[in-house]
Order: sequence, then C-alpha cells, then structure tokens
Amino acid sequence: APVRDLAGVRVVVSAGPTREYLDPVRFISNPSSGKMGFAVAEAARDRGAEVTLVTGPVTLPDPAGVRVVRIESALELRDAVVDAARDAGIVVMTAAVADYRAATQSGEKQAKVAGDVTIHLTPNPDILAELGREKGDRVLVGFAMETHAGVERAAGKAQRKNADFILLNYPTREGTAFGGDDNQVTLVRADGSHEDWPRVSKREVAERLLTEAARLLPAAR
Ligand code: C5P
Repeated sequence: APVRDLAGVRVVVSAGPTREYLDPVRFISNPSSGKMGFAVAEAARDRGAEVTLVTGPVTLPDPAGVRVVRIESALELRDAVVDAARDAGIVVMTAAVADYRAATQSGEKQAKVAGDVTIHLTPNPDILAELGREKGDRVLVGFAMETHAGVERAAGKAQRKNADFILLNYPTREGTAFGGDDNQVTLVRADGSHEDWPRVSKREVAERLLTEAARLLPAAR
C-alpha cells in the first residue's frame, strides 16, 4: 500500500490545455494530453490527499475519488484554481495555459473573407504568478517546456512566479512530454539549483514531485 503521507492535505492540480475561442466554433489551443496532471492527481489521492483536479478538454476519464472541475478557457481555469487553492497545501500547475486569448470573441461564426485577416490577441493572466503573489504556506509547483536554455529560463520562471520549483521538460525528446506516457524532467529551483531526473513514467514523475512538495510543507500540520 502507498504511504499516506498526504493525509489531510488539500492538493490542487491543473491539467490539460486551454481553449481560447475566436468565435463559437474556432479556438486557439495546444496538444496537451492532460496525462501528467491526471497522474499527479491520482498519485496524491493514493497518498491520502483531498484532491481537486481542474482540467481543460482532454480525453481522459474522471479519476475516481478526485473532485474534477472541467473548464475550457484560461479565465475559467483561473477562477476554478484560485477558488480551490484557497485552503490548499500544495498546488501543482501542469496545465498548458494559452498565453493569449482573442481580445474580442465573436458570438457568431466569422465568415470567410477574401485575403488576410488579423486576429487581435490579449494576454491571459498568469495563474501561477497570481498564486505566488499571495503564497502563504502553500507549496507551489509549476511545469515548463523549453526548447533551449531550459534551466536558466525555468529558474527565471520559478523566481518571477514565486514557485517552489519547476519541472522542466523538453518537447523534442522521444516518448516524453506532449501525449507520451513517460517524462524526463529536470527539477529547477529559483536559485538555479537543479537535478536531472531519469526518464520514468508520468506516474513516477508525479510520485517524485509529491515527495519533494511534501518535504516543503510546514512541519506543524
Ligand atoms: O507558460 P510558462 O512556461 O510560463 O508556464 C510555466 C508554469 O506557469 C506552468 O506551470 C503553467 O501551468 C503556469 N502558467 C500559468 N498561467 C499562465 C501561463 C502559465 O499558471 N497564464
């Protein structure tokens, strides 16, 4: 049986992509499968945590014993995560949040026109950074996908967003990241210290992540 080291701890996990609608039938999104976040939610559940999983549109079924909130846009993701994070001990942001949304959303399907069109995009809020600004005792964990200067960029993100650590992964490594069942990540802290983890299943990455997060929980809980 797994160690119930997270008994009584509320854990919030975000997963999957967001969809930023341009009109009722078109959106901007990305290929996030949700597998990493679902693995974190299931691992936390099995270690005794009370888990809320906030997920964008993915094909995975609701895990048993987890409160699942299905959202589409980054703004919906923010509302659900901020709400659930209020009394959380650990928040893990695996969601691939779209950086931008349409500045205005058409209520009607946009007809094709001759020639080029321009879409005006406006930045989405950074949810992890928002949580980091009122961090309290919560342990905050992020993910980052980089094609180059990974450790440096991930450390900068951990610092700017006030996250305890970021798990860095690479979109180009075979069998890992988007859609894969395995992941090869590097744990990166704000001070630039980092550890390469071996390529293991997403479930095993989740277990290691939670072990690291549990060590950072305030002692007197
Ligand atoms: O997109 P970026 O590389 O900055 O993502 C790093 C971390 O920040 C991820 O954990 C992601 O879920 C989170 N994030 C967020 N809100 C955004 C963009 C990213 O919480 N708008």
